[in-house]
Amino acid sequence: MSNPYIPVQAVVKDLRQETDGARPIKTFTVEIKDKKDKFKFSPGQCAMVGIPGVGESMISICSSPTQKKYMQFSIMQMGKVTSALHELDKGEMITVRGPYGKPFPIDEWKGKKILTIGGGIGQAPLRPIINYVRDNAKNYGALSIIYGARSPQDLVFLSELEGMKKDKSAKVHLTVDAEAPDWKGNVGFVPNYLMDVKPSPKNTIAITCGPPIMIKFVLQNLKKLGFEDDQIFTTLENRMKCGIGKCGKCNVGGVYVCKDGPVFSYAQFKELHPDF
Ligand SMILES: Cc1cc2nc3c(=O)[nH]c(=O)nc-3n(C[C@H](O)[C@H](O)[C@H](O)COP(=O)(O)OP(=O)(O)OC[C@H]3O[C@@H](n4cnc5c(N)ncnc54)[C@H](O)[C@@H]3O)c2cc1C
Ligand code: FES
Repeated sequence: MSNPYIPVQAVVKDLRQETDGARPIKTFTVEIKDKKDKFKFSPGQCAMVGIPGVGESMISICSSPTQKKYMQFSIMQMGKVTSALHELDKGEMITVRGPYGKPFPIDEWKGKKILTIGGGIGQAPLRPIINYVRDNAKNYGALSIIYGARSPQDLVFLSELEGMKKDKSAKVHLTVDAEAPDWKGNVGFVPNYLMDVKPSPKNTIAITCGPPIMIKFVLQNLKKLGFEDDQIFTTLENRMKCGIGKCGKCNVGGVYVCKDGPVFSYAQFKELHPDF
């Protein structure tokens, strides 16, 4: 593996506009330029994605490692770096540094049913789990996806999720915060919808990512549904700078999220955020 502290060059092979609201989201499909720079990662890991002379941002790798030819990043336009990334066209070069962080213990979940609960761009780190489990379906139980966003226009990976519903590779439950023309799915917040869908905790692992307030109520509701602490995982997106446990920017409760996370079991998470 190449040195994860040194950025490698990657070519933007494809760009997909996922949402086009006030903070648009684009999915970048990139290929590492030099085949010698092998980039091996697992679901849940992130990379520093950058443009020389502009800067770098920590972004979840949203493709599955079962897809070996390329990597994908779904990036919301926020500020300097992500805006510059959104300006890029196919064929242009970015830098990728990593992979960073502890991945989801996905091999330990073999034989179990998998439930993902996502909100907004928080669906990005859940997507590699979804695609990994679909690509290794014989090793896992049923896959269920609960996903919500503010409006239908804010749902990322929508056509993929509709495709999974059709080919029955996953049970897909979509929700939006408020009624919208032509929306036939559920209306309501993700934590409430979780209680309506009422998944059984039996032999199930639940993984959640989204805005902190959503995570808070999803965790509470998973407990109400009878999920044990070791059946629940989440991934955090604290501000990061170095990504390698040096600068202290991502520190919370004595851990560096970049190095010790971003993936945490609920048991670990409770120690970091006792108020949750
Ligand atoms: C582990 C991890 C995984 C992430 N995965 C993704 C991903 O898959 N897709 C994605 O679009 N973004 C992701 N992010 C967030 C992303 O890193 C930031 O949005 C990005 O760095 C902003 O950089 P910028 O230069 O464009 O904006 P800046 O100019 O740095 O900031 C613009 C605005 O964004 C806010 N901001 C910056 N960083 C964060 C953050 N971490 N959380 C909340 N607000 C922030 C700033 O306060 C400011 O208001 C992830 C962050 C972490 C730590
Ligand atoms: S981002 Fe620097 S220590 Fe985590």
